Amino acid sequence: MDKNSLHLWFAYPDDLLTESLARSCAALLSEEEIARWQKFRFDWHRRESLTTRALARTALSYYHPIPPEAWHFRANAYGKPVAEPDCGLRFNLSNASGLVVCLIAEGAEVGADVEPIKRAGDILNLATEVFSAPELAQLKALPDTEKPDRALSLWTLKEAYIKARGFGLSLPLRRFSFLFGGKEGIRLEVDPAMDSDPGRWRFRMLDHVGHRIAMVAEGPAERDLQVWESHPLLTPPTRLGATGESWFPLSSVPFLSELKREPAPVG
Ligand SMILES: CC(C)(COP(=O)(O)OP(=O)(O)OC[C@H]1O[C@@H](n2cnc3c(N)ncnc32)[C@H](O)[C@@H]1OP(=O)(O)O)[C@@H](O)C(=O)NCCC(=O)NCCS
Repeated sequence: MDKNSLHLWFAYPDDLLTESLARSCAALLSEEEIARWQKFRFDWHRRESLTTRALARTALSYYHPIPPEAWHFRANAYGKPVAEPDCGLRFNLSNASGLVVCLIAEGAEVGADVEPIKRAGDILNLATEVFSAPELAQLKALPDTEKPDRALSLWTLKEAYIKARGFGLSLPLRRFSFLFGGKEGIRLEVDPAMDSDPGRWRFRMLDHVGHRIAMVAEGPAERDLQVWESHPLLTPPTRLGATGESWFPLSSVPFLSELKREPAPVG
């Protein structure tokens, strides 16, 4: 993988409504993963979990020549999975019942979050619990019609940042801010006690099939984003054309876009 590129993979839990495909995915899992997966009570949750595991394994195998079932995963002290053998690849997973994402880079930490856009109103109701004072001030100044969308963007960006750092919710959510506006478009401000070099992070958002996805990755400033999906899961992947997006902090051009499907070979 080119060190300047970042690859985002999509998979769809509803693919596993097909029993034979679900069985093929389960065959890729370790015994421990199977035990964890079987504990989920609801079918939709089991499909989401199995899709997540199968996507991580199959996507990583496009970049390192070992079969999907050969990967091992260990979690850091806060639960962030790391792939073994360590071949320099870094990845992060996020799941919702309609969409699972896996963000992959070489030699750079990454974090991703996916949320259904229809959750925006619920997230707005949690604003005072999770957003910082500067974020809340910017939110309050918006027209009511724009508040749910901003809350959704803030939530996914903040979640992607704590996932890129790998510390999960042990990082205090109200001590860092994603601030909108100005020539940087969106900028990240962090309590220096929490992150001595916040300038290394780049972030980006896009919308896909009713979900907002936020990505946070260590520099460089201009990264090439490739978007892939395997749909149905385990079939050869298709590259999706991503248009009109930007990495932040950089400029104030529009940053959300819908994706168009474009078949392309893996490269
Ligand atoms: C666990 C947490 C890292 C993500 O939780 P989440 O939003 O429920 O779940 P997501 O679907 O985005 O991500 C789950 C995946 O992240 C990965 N993950 C787990 N711990 C992680 C960590 N410390 N760092 C990075 N990734 C982690 C795992 O692969 C996990 O999937 P798996 O359990 O199927 O293996 C943590 O941030 C959390 O509990 N968040 C709760 C939501 C919240 O309050 N967010 C506030 C936003 S302002």
